Amino acid sequence: MLDYVTDKVQDESRQGEAFAPFAGDLNHYKKRFYIESYGCQMNFADSEIVASILHNEGFGATRNIGEADLIFINTCSIREKAEQTIRKRLTEFRKLKVQKKDMLVGVLGCMAERLKSKFLEEEKLVDIVVGPDAYRSLPGLVAEAEGGQKAVNVLLSREETYADISPVRIDSNGVSAFVSIMRGCNNMCSFCVVPFTRGRERSRDPDSIIKECRDLFEQGYKEVTLLGQNVDSYYYQPAVDSPQSAVSGPITFSKLLERVALISPILRVRFSTSHPKDITDDVLHTMAKYENICKYIHLPVQSGSTRILQLMNRTYTREWYMAKVDRIRQIMPDCGISSDIITGFCTEEEQDHNDTLDIMEYSRYDFSYMFFYSERPGTLAQKRYKDDIPEEVKKKRLVEIVDAQNRLSLASNKKDIGKSFKVLIEGDSKRSEKNWTGRTSQNKVIVFPKENYELKKGDYVTVRVKDCTQATLLGEIA
Ligand code: SAH
Ligand code: SF4
Ligand code: F3S
Repeated sequence: MLDYVTDKVQDESRQGEAFAPFAGDLNHYKKRFYIESYGCQMNFADSEIVASILHNEGFGATRNIGEADLIFINTCSIREKAEQTIRKRLTEFRKLKVQKKDMLVGVLGCMAERLKSKFLEEEKLVDIVVGPDAYRSLPGLVAEAEGGQKAVNVLLSREETYADISPVRIDSNGVSAFVSIMRGCNNMCSFCVVPFTRGRERSRDPDSIIKECRDLFEQGYKEVTLLGQNVDSYYYQPAVDSPQSAVSGPITFSKLLERVALISPILRVRFSTSHPKDITDDVLHTMAKYENICKYIHLPVQSGSTRILQLMNRTYTREWYMAKVDRIRQIMPDCGISSDIITGFCTEEEQDHNDTLDIMEYSRYDFSYMFFYSERPGTLAQKRYKDDIPEEVKKKRLVEIVDAQNRLSLASNKKDIGKSFKVLIEGDSKRSEKNWTGRTSQNKVIVFPKENYELKKGDYVTVRVKDCTQATLLGEIA
């Protein structure tokens, strides 16, 4: 149990997932690659871009690691545990390499960026190291590595958004897809390694975003999730001489959201992540105005104590955050809210911890991702403060936070009993083919019997909630 909560990552079910978008006859490809992804949704979205770049160069993807000429691992540095998982996986790749000498191993993503060429010294089996902004150079790097050289490109960019590359959709259920709208992060939360691994914030051309979403809709997708570390600071200034500039001026996140929502009323729109300091009334009003923009906000609080928030450099106070929650509920009384919480940050006292428990209660989160603080090399917190909370205390507080969240999730689900929700069907439920699983606008998972209705995944259906667990609503078609 403890291990699970302490190593919880944003995409628990997807960590280490491999994919092969062009499976089938691989004989006509010059090389076969295998790619495995860790970390946040942005990393998974990047793997789709990498696959697209490699595929255009004549490489074929395989899900079978044994038949790969190239193995890629797209890595995460957010907590020490994430990096340990990757090191372990690399040890397994080493065994494969003993059997197959000319196979190449490439490390992509945030850990590649953090460690740079040090990776090649530490992990002798690694042949290629590529940071998140250098994926276009992958084919060239592979050629270099084939020639026997170690190949590295970890340059960060101020412009790269891969806007023109259409990601290949992986393992996707054909119903929902992720669309990257920006890269990097300009915030300097003191605990966080992301600004160092992903570089400066930059927003992707809105036309390319709209085109990607429209194409997805035309292919049958019914839900897009707009991705960025801090989507509310999306800002795109069209070039002065472009026709777009004269018509619309700068595009903010609320304008972008509206444009995506207007693609079709039956295309659901979600987004992640919102920083409490940047989410504006404009965004909230746009959400309220369009039924197809899901009523759900992931609004990480990190801590409920103003003193700790200051040390974390989150730039808001406890009261500011609470007022934001009030504002959301005022404009959208039915809006789901979830959070990220860190326990045991430097100098955290029992009183700070109680403030966190208290703000969770106040915000009535439907869901939270909860972590204990893991010091990351090079971050402001590592340079300025001592990681002084003993591991047992961090874990004890984490358990209390998890217990509190479990209670809140159950209470929130119980309140839905008797209500009806419009649900987008995502597929068969994990446990039984006789049941569908889908999600409500508020992002709650709901399972219900198929009965004799002629429905398929990607359809909308109204479902009445009859019962619940802490994690799932149970319903029947209304
Ligand atoms: N951009 C997003 C979050 C990115 S990282 C945001 O600002 O909300 C996802 C979550 O990992 C963070 O919200 C934080 O709760 C957690 N996290 C980041 N660095 C961490 C660290 N050093 N130790 C523990 N948890 C951390
Ligand atoms: Fe990290 Fe803060 Fe940026 Fe999120 S907003 S990625 S927590 S620095
Ligand atoms: Fe991890 Fe990088 Fe995402 S550190 S959480 S993969 S931005």
